Amino acid sequence: MGFDSARHLIDLDHLGDDEVGALVDEVVALSEGGGTGGLVGRSVAMVFFEASTRTRLSFEAAARGCGTTVTRFDAGTSSMVKGETLAETVRTVEAIGADYLVIRHNGSGSAERAAMAVRGASVINAGDGWRRHPTQALLDAATIRGALGQIRGVRVAIVGDTMHSRVARSNAALLTRLGASVVFVGPSAMTPDWSGTLGVEVSHDLRKGIAGADVVYTLRLQLERQRGGAVPSLGEYHRLFGITRERLGWANEGAVVMHPGPVNPGVELAGELLDDPRCLVHQQVAMGVFARMAVLRMLERERCDG
Ligand code: NCD
Repeated sequence: MGFDSARHLIDLDHLGDDEVGALVDEVVALSEGGGTGGLVGRSVAMVFFEASTRTRLSFEAAARGCGTTVTRFDAGTSSMVKGETLAETVRTVEAIGADYLVIRHNGSGSAERAAMAVRGASVINAGDGWRRHPTQALLDAATIRGALGQIRGVRVAIVGDTMHSRVARSNAALLTRLGASVVFVGPSAMTPDWSGTLGVEVSHDLRKGIAGADVVYTLRLQLERQRGGAVPSLGEYHRLFGITRERLGWANEGAVVMHPGPVNPGVELAGELLDDPRCLVHQQVAMGVFARMAVLRMLERERCDG
């Protein structure tokens, strides 16, 4: 691989089932008031090349909660606009004194490239292209545990543009590993051909796809990653796959609605649902801080013991 996978969080794949289970437990425990600190004297650099509100702010809050200092790197005004490579940029950020680099970049595999470039720092993947978003999957698993009491046996319908979504990919991998059943629901032009490899079911009919679901997980249409033509119009998409109060009734009684944000109200999700008690979008954001604290603490233990 070219780097020590235990020192970085590129994906959750390299962790064993016990480690992943323990990490979800730690997120839930932190959310219930299970402590702060753990990284006093460390420095975290936020290296974001793509837009972000909640992921960046929640990593910053998590880093401060763990006792670190936080440095922000601004891609738009950095030397990358003068042609500096990702590898050289992350080495520079490390040399300035960062122990942890939290990276978001639109290139799939960019987090690995950064991990190969740094000398002693740890890289945390905050989203690489279409590929992975491990801390989002972790916070979503913990949110489901918090809301429904368990993950094993829970049925999760991930609705929308699963093909271009790193959230769908990371969530499907983690939730199936933790014993949930996952179905991707959406137009065929937005459904990835790898779904079967994770044991994920597929439905192109919203009513059938969300029948029996305990969690209806909606996704933003990734218009910046689509080549066009996947849906005739946003209105048509809403008519076919938008989640409304009424349609939520097609899922199991007590079903909850989730969304990683940012939400396009009236497209994937009716605006009325944002204020509905069954909608967990703000619980997800709150859980994000604890998920990122748990990741920082896990990597710090690795750095100290390893
Ligand atoms: C997602 C992302 O950037 O992958 N948002 C997030 O991290 N909360 C999903 C999206 O952009 O649709």
